[in-house]
Amino acid sequence: MERRNYRHIEVQRVAGALGAELRGVDLAKDLPDDVVGEIRRAWLDHLVLFFRDQKITPAQQLAFASRLGEPMAYPQLKGLDAYPMITPVVKLENERNNFGGVWHSDTTYLQVPPMASMLYAIELPPVGGDTEFANQYLAYETLSPGLRAMLDSLVGVSSSMKAEASKTREDRLKAAGQEVKPLEAEHPIVRTHPETGRKALYLNIGHTARIKGWTEKESAGLLAFLFEHQIRPEFTCRFRWQPGSLALWDNRSAMHNAINDYHGHRRILHRITLAGDRPA
Ligand code: SIN
Repeated sequence: MERRNYRHIEVQRVAGALGAELRGVDLAKDLPDDVVGEIRRAWLDHLVLFFRDQKITPAQQLAFASRLGEPMAYPQLKGLDAYPMITPVVKLENERNNFGGVWHSDTTYLQVPPMASMLYAIELPPVGGDTEFANQYLAYETLSPGLRAMLDSLVGVSSSMKAEASKTREDRLKAAGQEVKPLEAEHPIVRTHPETGRKALYLNIGHTARIKGWTEKESAGLLAFLFEHQIRPEFTCRFRWQPGSLALWDNRSAMHNAINDYHGHRRILHRITLAGDRPA
């Protein structure tokens, strides 16, 4: 247990690469600034934080999220009627696709993608439905100096229409009768984290379609290598949800993947994304 660095919270790492469980915090409460400050520090250190046994209403989730950043609407799906900034992440018993079931960082097809996402578990399958996370600082730092130097100058083109990710939203869009709007954005393949100053890989199989100035065919070989490299098991952790669990991840330094291994069961979570800045 990491106690010495924190006065108000307990931080227990869950894997070598990233992820920590945070104890001693009731997110239903209006937390003092120094507690929120420690949570933010732990989040920057561990990239994804997990809270257990939280009993929070949508209003309380939104209030906690607002202490860390500025909640923003998800561009592809409507939020809850009373809380448009909260997107329900749903897979029903009769559905095959799960939302977010591909390695990605959230909505990198936006010009200004979200800094963070926060997911709160409401209803879960009896087993399965875990979420994996991968540390993209490590993914960058473990490449050779030669490849790092080349990647430092490359720009990736993200699209909301890549089949890998768009199929994971199909059931929800159908249920809502919503149209998708194609979105595209260009971002550096290596970004410097605005708060830690560390470099991280910033591309993902869910949304990165090609390298700017290269054809799709030319991009395919290098992207395939990087997509495989960036999720090496030693860069990852895996979170087993329970009702009342909440995960808070940094989209600038980590990717995630919702595992689709619970057909026939329902899984419902509430997601809030927090506005970020333009990757550089
Ligand atoms: C997401 O990609 O935001 C959803 C992750 C999950 O359902 O575990």
